[in-house]
Amino acid sequence: MAISREFIQDIHDRLDIVDMISSYVSLKPSGRLYKGLCPFHGEKTPSFMVYPDTNSFYCFGCGAAGDVINFMMRIENLDRMEAIKACAEKAGMTMPEEGYDDSLAKRRLRLLSANREAARFFNAQLNDEKNRNILEYFLKRGLTPNTIKKFGLGYAPDSWTALTDHLKSMGYSEQELVLANLTKRSDKNGRCYDNFRNRVMFPIIDVRGNVVAFGGRVMDDSKPKYVNTSDTPVYKKGAGIFALNFAKSNPDKRLILVEGYMDVISMHQAGFTQTIACLGTALTPEQANILSRYAEEVVLCYDNDEAGAAATERALRILARTNLSVKVIRPEGGKDVDEIIRTHGKDRIAGLISGAMNEVEYSLAALRYRFNILTDDGRLKYLTAAAEVLADSTHIETEIYTTRLANEFGISKDALLAQIEDARKSLKRKRAAQQRKEEQKIISSSFADKNNPEREKKLRAASAEERLIASLMRNPDYYKKLSGKFTPEDFVTDFNRRVIAFLIELIEGGYSTEVSMFGECFTSEEVGSITRIYLNGEEAANTLKECEDCIEVIKKEKAKSTDGFSGGDITDEQFADFFSKKNKDNE
Ligand code: CTP
Ligand code: MN
Repeated sequence: MAISREFIQDIHDRLDIVDMISSYVSLKPSGRLYKGLCPFHGEKTPSFMVYPDTNSFYCFGCGAAGDVINFMMRIENLDRMEAIKACAEKAGMTMPEEGYDDSLAKRRLRLLSANREAARFFNAQLNDEKNRNILEYFLKRGLTPNTIKKFGLGYAPDSWTALTDHLKSMGYSEQELVLANLTKRSDKNGRCYDNFRNRVMFPIIDVRGNVVAFGGRVMDDSKPKYVNTSDTPVYKKGAGIFALNFAKSNPDKRLILVEGYMDVISMHQAGFTQTIACLGTALTPEQANILSRYAEEVVLCYDNDEAGAAATERALRILARTNLSVKVIRPEGGKDVDEIIRTHGKDRIAGLISGAMNEVEYSLAALRYRFNILTDDGRLKYLTAAAEVLADSTHIETEIYTTRLANEFGISKDALLAQIEDARKSLKRKRAAQQRKEEQKIISSSFADKNNPEREKKLRAASAEERLIASLMRNPDYYKKLSGKFTPEDFVTDFNRRVIAFLIELIEGGYSTEVSMFGECFTSEEVGSITRIYLNGEEAANTLKECEDCIEVIKKEKAKSTDGFSGGDITDEQFADFFSKKNKDNE
């Protein structure tokens, strides 16, 4: 990759990391840094930090870290070149026309166009007289020809190679088709065959209008019911949202989240064009974050069964960590919204939406299914559980719903409030314990670093290396005075050796030594580790003398690690160390 370092530096000078991350995460200032809920893993207490001084971010919970470009790569699921492009655009810069290698971006474009051709191929099958029954299938399910066209529905023929042959004849290689997951390669004989066979096809289209994946459904009761595109260079399942391309521009800032492809399509046909589905039932934190970019409110409308209720509970927990407000509908009158529309008509849906419950109402209603409130014991259990729900709600909600429950169950409001207060205290204790556990996990994981597997075992050496690296990143001018005193070869751990070698290259070339520059030679995850090193360095060696101490430790440890006596000068300490190990071996 040959995008110039100057260009990357320019992006950094022009893009304010706080501004840029704020459009995805709500950040609160906290001293010299900003804090928020990490968009890359689910959490209730903020451990995601943005450091404007150093143009970097770091999550103490999951280790996600880096600069604006890394942030862009992760949040938009882009490769490095695309992320640079996106950041450059935000910074109002134009990409250099030549001089950068865009082979990855080109390959993605190839996969996207293969997907588009596949969608065309599947859709064209519906015009074929011999596939009359497939069209009938859609029509019987209540879809109009217009809807079929709008969603680009289609059919994958009952053949092993129809699509693969077709796309190969258009010039796509087997390798490209396998990468796109349109084609699979047999482990046994290496032959290629179509991933989707004899299925009705639902293309998944992203907000930019690219066909990124497919879902294929059987037309009878055989298994598996759906085959879906797995993760590919252009698709990440956990971030895929069906029909967001249509729903994204909803003026009322509200999205209706349903379970299946057919639910979405029926809803759109009935005029509820703000409907989407997060495919594969369980909503992910990543999907929730994407939704929060396009809406202020999400209405959950999962299937009217056990699985739907469980999925609703899970989704509520995940959505609680976003700033979306949430409403819930139980689709009474059918197994899912698709069926309700077909049996009762779209007015029923409109009624359900206007009567949608807020989170507290939903949780209270869901409890009623769990307990038999016709018995005393059931009422007791219900009210105890209800108090737990209200313990986690606002004071106004508590006020409203305690009044209602007290009236309905003929008990005193004070008794209920006392119960809620107890529940609140125990919830608080539970949360505090949970947080302590999380913090403990962070501390105990702080010795391990999967990008530097030697770190844990050679902690003394690795720490000194890291302090020296951090210090030189912060004070590149020290290098002049230190350059004669060590080389990367002195480093003990391989990862840190790579880091220092590249850092020296930057310093000698007069480039910025910010974290961002490392993306040129290190993966996103590795840049995360470098960010950690850099940030920890705040309290580390910051004077020349301290750097020299680090170098001394590194050299000592190096001598040790090159196996006892062969390392040249041996200190008494090493000598003793060596013999105590030997003695242990003999015991
Ligand atoms: N799903 C899946 N794989 C399965 C079953 C379901 O990926 N084996 C996903 C699909 O995205 C599906 C959604 O979960 O659309 C809901 O599943 P289900 O209710 O079983 O399917 P519907 O799409 O509602 O199908 P239909 O109404 O045609 O029965
Ligand atoms: Mn369904």
